[in-house]
This record gives sequence, C-alpha cells and structure tokens, in this order.
Amino acid sequence: MLKFLIIKAPIFMRSVRRAQFCSSAVQWEGGVSMVQGASRGIGLEFVRQLLGRNAKGHVIATCRNPDGATDLIELKRQFADRLNILPLDLTNESTIEEAAAAVKDNYGSLNLLINASGILSVPNVLQPETTLRKVEKSSLMLAYEVNAVGPTLVIKHMWPLLKVGGGSRTEREFAVVANMSARVGSIGDNGLGGWHSYRASKTALNQLTKNISVEFARRKDPIICILLHPGTVDTDLSKPFQRNVPQGKLFTAEFSVQKLLGIINNAKASDSGKFFAWDGQQIPW
Ligand SMILES: NC(=O)c1ccc[n+]([C@@H]2O[C@H](COP(=O)([O-])OP(=O)(O)OC[C@H]3O[C@@H](n4cnc5c(N)ncnc54)[C@H](OP(=O)(O)O)[C@@H]3O)[C@@H](O)[C@H]2O)c1
Repeated sequence: MLKFLIIKAPIFMRSVRRAQFCSSAVQWEGGVSMVQGASRGIGLEFVRQLLGRNAKGHVIATCRNPDGATDLIELKRQFADRLNILPLDLTNESTIEEAAAAVKDNYGSLNLLINASGILSVPNVLQPETTLRKVEKSSLMLAYEVNAVGPTLVIKHMWPLLKVGGGSRTEREFAVVANMSARVGSIGDNGLGGWHSYRASKTALNQLTKNISVEFARRKDPIICILLHPGTVDTDLSKPFQRNVPQGKLFTAEFSVQKLLGIINNAKASDSGKFFAWDGQQIPW
C-alpha cells in the first residue's frame, strides 16, 4: 500500500496539475499575454502587435510609470476592453507581487509572459564600459538587478498563473515565457569585449532562464522558457550606438517583433531553455 502511494501519488498530482491547467485554458478565448517593460521600444511594439494580430487576445502591459506611458495610454484608448496597464518596477519586488495579484484577480491565468525590459545605459548612472578601468560596482549591480534579477522575480511571482491557453495567437499545450536577452550576453560569441555590466547581466539572465526551464521540465509543468535576441533595433537603448551599425542591419521594432512573435508562436517543448536570434538561429552560450 505504501509502495502504491509512493509510486502513484506523483502521477496523481501531475494529472491534477494538468487538469487545473486545462480548465483555465477555456476561460479567456484568445489567451492572456503579459508584456513586462512595455512603456517604449520593443516591449511597446509587442503590446501593439499582440493586440493587433489577435482580435480576441487580452494583453497586460506593465511599466514603471503608467501615467507617463503616453504610447500605452493611446493604445488603451483603441483597445479599452483588451488592454490592462499595471505598474511594475523591477527594482521593487512588492510591485511585482502586486502585479501578480492583480493578474490573478482579473484573469486567473497567463498564457504568455514576455520580459521585454532592459538597460544598457542610464544617463549619469550607468555607461557601457569600454575598459575594465571604468567598471564600477554600482554599474554592475544595477545592470544585474534590472537585466537578470528583476525578470527572474517576475517569473517567480507569475509562475502559479502560467497556464496552457491561447497565448499570443494559437492554442498550445504549454505556456511560454520569453525573456529578451542580447547576443552580447553569449560567452562563446564574445570576440569584442567591453560593455562589462550589460554583457555579464545578460549572461546571468541566460543562465537563470535555462535553470528555470530545467526546473519546469523536471516538475512536468507545461511552461517553456526561451531567450530572444531581437537584432539591433532602432530604440532609445541603441540610439547612442547606432553609428557603427552596418547598412540594413538596424531593424525597426515592428520588423523585429514580427520575427520574435513568429518564434514565440512556433515554439516547441524541445525549444525550452534555448537562446534564439530574431531569425530563428540558435545562439551559442
Ligand atoms: N534595441 C536593441 O538594439 C537591442 C539589442 C539587443 C537586445 N535588446 C534587449 O531588448 C529589450 C528591449 O530593449 P529596447 O531596445 O526596447 O529598450 P528601450 O527602448 O530602452 O526600453 C527599455 C524598457 O525597459 C524598461 N525598464 C527599464 N528599467 C526598468 C525597471 N527598473 N523596471 C521596469 N522596467 C524598466 C523601460 O521603462 P521606462 O520607460 O520606465 O524607462 C522601457 O520600457 C532589452 O532587454 C534589451 O536589452 C535590445
């Protein structure tokens, strides 16, 4: 009897967990997606395309200062019933917990989570370092906090809500977490050096995301995690560094997000824990 319990209990628990995932799938036709870091740039474009390309999809857009997010407010005017804007600052964990509570109360589940935020430079605070001499403890810590720690805490608090459903477009058998990384976070691809804080923080994000994907798989939670490099995209983040970008290699946010949504929509369970560029090519660690 004891043997029966030991062997059967985990299987029973798994089937209960699956039943819970499946029952929530029908709640929101078109699915519920969350874009964290949605005030501008790539995150804002994700919100725009998720709303525009899926006539029934619901989108939660989070940002530090919803009152100042004029482009999001404009989208809210167009998509009043399907867009919800919530405050979330990655450096303040209680705002992440409050956002998770609001998602739970309003939707009960989340099918797609995109961590789109990120910092490379912050005037008078963080400059991408061209040499080790310019590395400051405060810069390293801030980049880690915003680019690696914050997105990880977002996944932690949204985890109980991540369930099977419509996602961005299609019905699928798992929820998706997509973290915006950067090719410069690849150790294998690092031939240039520099940008110590940004590079290392993205490398940390890659390892944390891979680690989370392993844990979800081990628990048989139907959630996959992928890392995405958007290419060099014409946003505030890249503005100071666009001079050396070769002709034709500076993408619009619209083009990059179209490509990234293609990867998200076609992601398979076997893609979990992998790092993809905008064109679908896998990037080495
Ligand atoms: N653009 C590129 O060429 C490029 C290339 C490779 C990778 N990426 C990655 O792609 C992602 C999006 O970049 P982007 O080009 O769209 O950058 P962006 O235009 O500078 O936007 C960055 C976003 O991150 C948010 N953010 C910053 N600090 C935050 C915090 N403490 N809490 C919550 N949100 C915060 C910003 O919100 P506020 O408006 O409140 O500041 C903004 O919405 C980033 O992860 C970036 O590293 C971009």
